[in-house]
Amino acid sequence: MIDIHSHILPGLDDGAPDLQESLEMARIAVNDGIHTIIATPHTLNGIYLNSRSQVLARTGELRAAFAKDQIKLKLFPGSEVHLNLGMAEKLFSGETVALNDNQRYLLLEFPFHSIPPGAKQEIFQLQLKGITPILAHAERNYGFQQHFEQLYEFVGMGCLVQITAMSITGDLGRETRLCAQKMLECRLAHIIASDAHSATHRPPILSLGVKKAAKILGSTEQAEEMVTARPSAILAGEKIVIPEPEQPVKKRWFFLF
Ligand SMILES: [Fe+2]
Repeated sequence: MIDIHSHILPGLDDGAPDLQESLEMARIAVNDGIHTIIATPHTLNGIYLNSRSQVLARTGELRAAFAKDQIKLKLFPGSEVHLNLGMAEKLFSGETVALNDNQRYLLLEFPFHSIPPGAKQEIFQLQLKGITPILAHAERNYGFQQHFEQLYEFVGMGCLVQITAMSITGDLGRETRLCAQKMLECRLAHIIASDAHSATHRPPILSLGVKKAAKILGSTEQAEEMVTARPSAILAGEKIVIPEPEQPVKKRWFFLF
């Protein structure tokens, strides 16, 4: 399996605080059947600012540490970019780094409480430069939980959607689990990732989420594609063909008199 969302680089954000934790996370990932991870530290979110050069350097250092400890895990650079103005320019100027540094896929994080009004405009600007945004853990966003039909619109305009394994298993709360389930049922989730932050509370484990997703989708093959073929295409910067999503039914209110 390939994990495209992980805070495994030490000391860059609220993920692994030091090298020991990074190595422990790597061992857990390998144990779970993960052979490749993209390191995606937070950036441009008003707290963390991790430049392309910084991420590339830290990725190189952690790769060397894996080799020294004989940990068989491939590591690639990336970042989790908070939605903000001028993201495309920031990518091309080196202020930040796309997934596997290939200027093709960007892991994009919305604020947790809302869907900002200018989001579609900013996404369109990325698309004009040939960059496909991947919405990070949309199931955890309160805006999508309340206005699920909006996710269909973002997918319709060409976004991919990443869902977090622990959301599917119910470890991140009921609302998040229900939203994750609905996303899978409507084919509005395309990639499963761990969003791992530590070896203990948020570990890099995909298998449990994939197993549950297979039940919801009624297909092991489709669930596995979300951690194999699609992430592999993202790494290679290749196009991904997604299934036609189902249009979600809008909430209706009935009043009895
Ligand atoms: Fe994350």
